[in-house]
Amino acid sequence: MKTLSLPFKIKKKKTTASRQDIVHFYEEATDDYFFWSKDLNMHFGYFIWGKTNPFKRDSMLNEMNEQIYQRLQLSGNHRIVADLGCGMGGTIRHFLKRDRLLSMIGVTLSPFQVREGNRMLRPYKGVILEEDYTQTSIASDSMDGVIGIESLCHSGHSKECLREGYRILKKGGKMVIADAFLKKTPDKLCSVSHYSYQSLCKDWSLDGLGVINEVEENLKRIGFSTIKVEEVSLRVAPSVFHVPFAIVGFLLKNLFKENPIKPQSWNNLKASFYSLISGLHLKDFGYYIITATK
Ligand SMILES: C[S@@+](CC[C@H](N)C(=O)[O-])C[C@H]1O[C@@H](n2cnc3c(N)ncnc32)[C@H](O)[C@@H]1O
Repeated sequence: MKTLSLPFKIKKKKTTASRQDIVHFYEEATDDYFFWSKDLNMHFGYFIWGKTNPFKRDSMLNEMNEQIYQRLQLSGNHRIVADLGCGMGGTIRHFLKRDRLLSMIGVTLSPFQVREGNRMLRPYKGVILEEDYTQTSIASDSMDGVIGIESLCHSGHSKECLREGYRILKKGGKMVIADAFLKKTPDKLCSVSHYSYQSLCKDWSLDGLGVINEVEENLKRIGFSTIKVEEVSLRVAPSVFHVPFAIVGFLLKNLFKENPIKPQSWNNLKASFYSLISGLHLKDFGYYIITATK
């Protein structure tokens, strides 16, 4: 029996057209991620020479979880962390398995992820809510840590989601974000980068990627006291190079089983391909881990 007292109250949520796109995308495409990660990590990995096996995707994907966990620098006997855009709860389960003192709240827009994610979370002190991460029902100043892994891009790393992270964090708590960002404004991207950027935003239902300097500036304006921005593109690259193999494997599996490929699965495959193309343009794109302290 889990004991988790949740510091949140129910609030009305905003509905927008792009919210519908995101929900539709994840209702159809979440299943595909079983192929990407048996632990249901819906993100890229972090490679460390001698620690993670570059041929075993999940070892790198779970290392990303570990890197985020370490940056939170949690202490105290009862700590609670919010995962903004938690997917199937892969990161939540990783954190709760390695830290028995921790409780977690995840939020996602996808009812499928809420249903299936909560089913897998039954043995743990965690819960997933169907809420918008720009406007959660989590109480102010209540979280020891806040994370967002490859999720805040759906709102273009907007001020609204960063502000929400700040609001729910306790003073001294850390918000850790791991994601791809632009190194320059979209109008300054080279033509190949521009094309792959537009395509991956369309196919993954992203509002856009934040420009890293602007996001750092916004975090300062919101009130975060210390902000550490680390580019980890080369650590992430070995998992990005799994993309073409995963795409071919996924297509072959469905072909042999005579399963039709759903439209959102095609979008997912195309966007994954464009993420590989973008990953090759390190002058325009970078993968960063941002740690911001309230
Ligand atoms: C690529 S998945 C990443 C999931 C998870 N962080 C992981 O790394 O496994 C993006 C997630 O962001 C969620 N998301 C996107 N926009 C959201 C919003 N406005 N509010 C809450 N969740 C959102 C999606 O529902 C999805 O769960």
